[in-house]
Amino acid sequence: MSPIFEHLVQPQIQSIQPYVPGKPVSELQRELGLKHISKLASNENPLGASQKALSAIEVALKDIARYPDGNTFYLREVLSDFLSAPTNQIALGNGSNELLELVGRVFCGQGDEIIYSQYGFAVYPITAQIVGATGVEVPAKNYAHDLQAMARAVTPKTKLIYVANPNNPTGTLFGRAEWESFMKAVPDTVMVVLDEAYLEYVETSDYPNGLDYLAQYPNLIVSRTFSKAYGLASLRVGYMVASEEIISYINRLRAPFNVNHFAQVAAAAALQDQQFVLQSVELNRQGKQQICEALARLDISFIHSEGNFVCVEFGDKASEINTKLLHHGVIVRPVSNYGLTRFLRVSIGNRAENQHFIDALHQVL
Ligand SMILES: Cc1ncc(COP(=O)(O)O)c(C=O)c1O
Repeated sequence: MSPIFEHLVQPQIQSIQPYVPGKPVSELQRELGLKHISKLASNENPLGASQKALSAIEVALKDIARYPDGNTFYLREVLSDFLSAPTNQIALGNGSNELLELVGRVFCGQGDEIIYSQYGFAVYPITAQIVGATGVEVPAKNYAHDLQAMARAVTPKTKLIYVANPNNPTGTLFGRAEWESFMKAVPDTVMVVLDEAYLEYVETSDYPNGLDYLAQYPNLIVSRTFSKAYGLASLRVGYMVASEEIISYINRLRAPFNVNHFAQVAAAAALQDQQFVLQSVELNRQGKQQICEALARLDISFIHSEGNFVCVEFGDKASEINTKLLHHGVIVRPVSNYGLTRFLRVSIGNRAENQHFIDALHQVL
């Protein structure tokens, strides 16, 4: 296709490489005609979603012709109770992805700098490009955020820093002391987004829960999602908690009905089923152990992960192994777009899916 409108497109948009999602099961079915496929590529919940969320959607179906509540009133009430945070400090998004981008659009433009870590979540550099800001990638330390170096990278042009804890795709984590000295070092004129998409899976007690720091740091924005441990990825619903002022700016930019009705009722119901979340977390713990033990037996190294996925090192063969796994019906995620060309990211599935991956791996190695 030869471009016709290129000269009309904003220069920063021309250079954007679109976000590459995990390959859908239906696509692999079309391509290879396979019946038995395990998708371990998008950090989804292998347990599905809470029955309470599914029932709430069934009841809500009769309202399908109506616009959703543009203020997400009920969901914010339920979240407010759950988080012990005022409703006016909560913004709902079409996935946390939308909110991560909106924050960039609220605070950054041409000439500003946005800091994120090497191997940080792909949406951060994409957002920097979208808003025309300069993305400043700070080298990682042992595949993890180097928070000290990130604080040192702040210049008078820095408007925003994105950090993910745990990080995707590496699964790495920072503890309380490291986080607290980082927040002390960052000027209060710089916004910090703490992306906690995977917090439910974290096992270490040294985890700094972002909500505990909001009162002390008015420049802090905590981001969370219903896509992972709550199993609502397809509904697209996430939230941010921050000062009332920051939330009001985000709300100015939100599309009028950015969170659909089914997402709202399902998320509210899912929050009230913490038993399901605990079950999901336990399944993930066991599945991660199943996969990591199998990798260790095969003498394959991986990055220790606190999320629902693990980044596995296959060296020069990563791309070839990915293709071979696809032919065995196992979809994992190449992460060369992160510069992790020697790795593949494997989401933790249920016991049978994990075994499918392990068996396929034995055959392709
Ligand atoms: C670190 C991180 N943050 C945010 C998101 C966005 O999730 P969602 O838009 O589904 O809430 C993801 C999705 O994979 C992620 O890995």
